[in-house]
Amino acid sequence: MTWREYHDATKHSVESLRGARNGLDWANMPDPFRHYEGVPVLDLPAGPPCPDTPALDVLRGVAGSTPAREGGEFLSQLLFYSAAISAVKRVSFGGQTYALRVNPSSGNLHPTEFHFRTRGLKDWTDGLYHYRPSSHMAEQRARGDFTAEPLEFVLTSIAWREAWKYRSRAYRYCLLDMGHAWQALALAARAMGCEAVATGSFPDHDVAQSCRLPEDEWPLLLVSICGNAIPRDAAETVWYGGEANRLSDEIVPYPLIDGIHEATCLRAVMPSSSARPFGEVARTRRSAVDYQGGSLTMSREQLATILDAATRPLAADFAAEPFVQLCLYVHRVAGLEPGLYRHGRESGELELVQAGDQRTAAAGLSLGQDMAGNACVAFSMIADLERATRAHGDRGYRYAHFEAGAIGHRLYLAAEALGLRGTGIGAFYDDAVHRYLNLTPEQGQVVYHFALGHPAPDNRLI
Ligand SMILES: Cc1cc2nc3c(=O)[nH]c(=O)nc-3n(C[C@H](O)[C@H](O)[C@H](O)COP(=O)(O)O)c2cc1C
Repeated sequence: MTWREYHDATKHSVESLRGARNGLDWANMPDPFRHYEGVPVLDLPAGPPCPDTPALDVLRGVAGSTPAREGGEFLSQLLFYSAAISAVKRVSFGGQTYALRVNPSSGNLHPTEFHFRTRGLKDWTDGLYHYRPSSHMAEQRARGDFTAEPLEFVLTSIAWREAWKYRSRAYRYCLLDMGHAWQALALAARAMGCEAVATGSFPDHDVAQSCRLPEDEWPLLLVSICGNAIPRDAAETVWYGGEANRLSDEIVPYPLIDGIHEATCLRAVMPSSSARPFGEVARTRRSAVDYQGGSLTMSREQLATILDAATRPLAADFAAEPFVQLCLYVHRVAGLEPGLYRHGRESGELELVQAGDQRTAAAGLSLGQDMAGNACVAFSMIADLERATRAHGDRGYRYAHFEAGAIGHRLYLAAEALGLRGTGIGAFYDDAVHRYLNLTPEQGQVVYHFALGHPAPDNRLI
């Protein structure tokens, strides 16, 4: 099968939804948590400290730091701020509750699993591990040499978790969720002073085999974490404490020289319009279930800051050229006329394509979900799937969706940092969006929708 056949076969339209089988088989609902039974389960130290670099700075590329001195502490902090349970919600009817995590997921079904391989982490046995979010612990699946890196994540996806609800379209959701999980991990790593580099090009079956993955779990992305902040056993930095010699008895001060030098120094920390720490933003990020419509606006500066944070270059072997462009349905942004806009990926500028109220269109195109009309701004993410697959073969189909998910995750965090909220929207009428935006398939196809604004209260959150 080609990516095109799959993509066309999984488009939503009024007709396809009318013909779809309704209802979910609750008795057969997949467990949201995978456990590898019968292996040692290791504690990750509780209550890891909050990475306190402002979230907007982290999104702009500023690195934070970590007090972790041991491998277990480091892993605990990294996973607590990227993949752990972060809230509990009540089911609409009845007294049951369910868990929400730091990384968002379509239908909260969480197809993504976090495996990691370690080498030389301080006081942590080299081997292969699986993260158990239900108890914030690490399942030790094997000991030994699995990687040349100090820490490498193997992010896998269990398509069945999503297919239970979304049927064949579920693969798209898995890819988008993967983009979110990647950025959740990469940004938490940066907030702790590390960098994360993603690799999408690898032999799938070899990686699956090396991790002894069960058949229903597929590796989709490898993410290496590197940097001196990782506590290591070997190759520690050793200072010999040499002291610089004094060049003359007296040093005459020249304030002008000191002044010009100070004025021309570069500072690592950039100005930010929000000081909310990364750790707080990552763990309080939630999807708005609806937005306060009415006249409440967001500012043009807020939108510019969010767009800038969301479209920064991504560190991955497939991300040298971006494939995703944003179209905006601007409803209520102070100083910006309501209308349909195109975002220039290189220039960062917004180009007005069509003036006028877009609320009905945005909600209608998003499968009638009101939130896309009540938000301050809604998005269609348009991927150049033809170019992505010309550059990377069918694999490019995955990469374009990873990129859209990554942009979505960065939209979520930047909005949260500024006191707003976002919602990923995987359900939209594909070809109706193309018609509305005047797009031919060669110009791009819609892969993801998103909404941003002032959230309506969600009284199901506990
Ligand atoms: C790829 C993706 C698609 C989503 N699609 C929708 C959607 O169509 N409608 C909706 O209300 N929420 C959607 N969501 C939001 C999820 O329902 C939400 O992430 C999940 O319930 C977990 O809640 P949280 O984000 O607050 O952790 C989507 C999220 C993702 C990541």
